[in-house]
Amino acid sequence: KKQEPLRVMISGAPASGKGTQCELITKKVSLFGMDDDPLGFWFYISEYEISVLESLSTNICVIDQYDLVHIAAGDLLRAEIAAGTENGRRAKEYMDKGQLVPNEIVVTMVKERLMRPDSQEKGWLLDGYPRSLSQAVALKGFQPDLFILLEVPEEILVERVVGRRLDPVTGRIYHLKYSPPETNEIAARLTQRFDDSEEKACEAAAAHSPSKCGISSVNVDGSVSKEEVFAQIDGALTQLLEAKE
Ligand code: AP5
Repeated sequence: KKQEPLRVMISGAPASGKGTQCELITKKVSLFGMDDDPLGFWFYISEYEISVLESLSTNICVIDQYDLVHIAAGDLLRAEIAAGTENGRRAKEYMDKGQLVPNEIVVTMVKERLMRPDSQEKGWLLDGYPRSLSQAVALKGFQPDLFILLEVPEEILVERVVGRRLDPVTGRIYHLKYSPPETNEIAARLTQRFDDSEEKACEAAAAHSPSKCGISSVNVDGSVSKEEVFAQIDGALTQLLEAKE
């Protein structure tokens, strides 16, 4: 059963856990029996586990709970860099220094992605945008239902940046201490993001103060475990869905 699509923005300093939480939000599924009765529990599982479940029983139907298109400003920029475009080359100069990329590059890119049919139909989860009042104003016409702000003290942010690792094969984010890789094979191929360093984390944390612009917003304590952070976000999104119904 499809509800009216949700439009959500998630913001916070670098390494506050936006990407981690977006992964949990987009992975949360609900299970239904053939008679459409909810089976009574919810959890987040991988695509592989879903395919195993579906092959075990035809009586189970797995439905994405939020089914939102995850749009991360940083990922869009990294894709431009990887594609070797002029915008990517210019963006990299700023990203290497932990500075915001100029609006003329970011705004158009984010707007174009928000206007694509999948975002319009399913709803979206916009990650890392807006990061300034001018970016919020530029996005007029794309009003979110909810703005989530992850609040994390600076000393924890630095620890998270320094321990963060990227799996270049799956794009998954790990942390050497808090979210270690599942296998030695994955551990061996992990890389550090080019803009991750203690010094850059401190500089950028001060610059990335999100503006709320009168939108319905929720402040989330992002300093606790990722499951506890998710519980707060999940509660806010569930309330929002109920209010929409
Ligand atoms: P972007 O990619 O958005 O990076 P960011 O804001 O620096 O955010 P991060 O991806 O670093 O962190 P995150 O909050 O997603 O945390 P994560 O889940 O990885 O932007 C990169 C650059 O692009 C910017 O610096 C800027 O130059 C440019 N840019 C992007 N958007 C822009 C815009 N709108 N305008 C202009 N320029 C823009 O978690 C971090 C680590 O902590 C991980 O290792 C994770 O495993 C761990 N962790 C997460 N949650 C927890 C927890 N609860 N407990 C313990 N560990 C945790």
